[in-house]
Amino acid sequence: MSAYRIGIVTCGGDCPGLNAVIRGVVRAANLQGWEVYGFEEGYEGLLNPPQYRLLEKRNTAGILCLGGTILGTSNRGRFAAKVGHGEKAHIDLEIMNEAKKTLQDLKIEALVCIGGDGSLSTALQFQEIGVNVVGVPKTIDNDISCTATSFGFDSAIECVADACDRLHTTATSHRRVMVLEVMGRYAGWIALYGGMAGGADLILVPEIPFHFDSVEKFIRQRRSLGAKSSIAVVAEGACPLGESFTTLKTPDKLGEKKLGGIGQRVSDEIQARTGQESRCVVLGHLQRGGDPTTTDRLLGTRFGVHAVELIREKKFGHMVSYLNYEVGAVTISDAVGLLKTIPPQSQIIAAARATGISFGD
Ligand code: F6P
Repeated sequence: MSAYRIGIVTCGGDCPGLNAVIRGVVRAANLQGWEVYGFEEGYEGLLNPPQYRLLEKRNTAGILCLGGTILGTSNRGRFAAKVGHGEKAHIDLEIMNEAKKTLQDLKIEALVCIGGDGSLSTALQFQEIGVNVVGVPKTIDNDISCTATSFGFDSAIECVADACDRLHTTATSHRRVMVLEVMGRYAGWIALYGGMAGGADLILVPEIPFHFDSVEKFIRQRRSLGAKSSIAVVAEGACPLGESFTTLKTPDKLGEKKLGGIGQRVSDEIQARTGQESRCVVLGHLQRGGDPTTTDRLLGTRFGVHAVELIREKKFGHMVSYLNYEVGAVTISDAVGLLKTIPPQSQIIAAARATGISFGD
């Protein structure tokens, strides 16, 4: 293939390992003699006036171990179309065409879109209006379909497990129940994996509605068996049976309700019902910040390299995916719109239950 120019954009919430993908793309593309243009602030950087810079080995050196994204990102603005379960984002055609024109003016022949479910469904929209795209799945929540995992998830669960380790010592010293609220709107993978790795006793996830009566019974039982303290990990999207999300009072700029508060609610109920002192800690964006783990550096690098391979093969409209320990590709349309959630009957849930973990059901 002769000299070629590609673009790259990081979209949605940031995620440890994004820079490893950028570096992987730049190195693999440069070795083929291609130029890489990095657009800033997510898809917003494609709109007028465009914000971009030429990425090369020299200005992407040393970023492999850096969290966040050197390009900046955005989950607000003109491309912000939050998608829920089973929905696809739909961005105004005028906005899409403005971005397409930027790519045409710069003679960019393909765009690497790194993003979550919403940003990837926008990538699909780009493909539909004639922009050559390849997608790279990015999520700390591990909720993108058709890929076993994505970079960012391992770093997030490392953070949750570390928080649990710290909470264990203070919980035991004070004979308390410590409740840790973690990210995960529709999918509870972070709570499940981070909680299991951190030795949590109770894990509440959106996929398994819980009952406060069961939570109370479980905590009482543990105490009667001699446990001085308990650790609960609660996904922000966990709900008591028949109820909807617990949200914060202040909506964000888009008027969207921000999740939050279920951890405090669980903590308050435990204290009121069992008499055991309880405290809630909200881990929040600490889960998204910081350096990527080695697993995420490797996965990000492999994803970046494979994105370039997909462009070389002209497999546009495809997304890099990780299945059976191999990096491959699926169509973006197969991957978006339906989030990957924890099957309540899965082996990992059974393993958690077998170690005595309660899901409050
Ligand atoms: O990346 C997804 C996510 O981690 C969700 O679990 C969480 O609700 C959301 O990001 C919060 O993102 P922000 O504060 O950037 O809107």
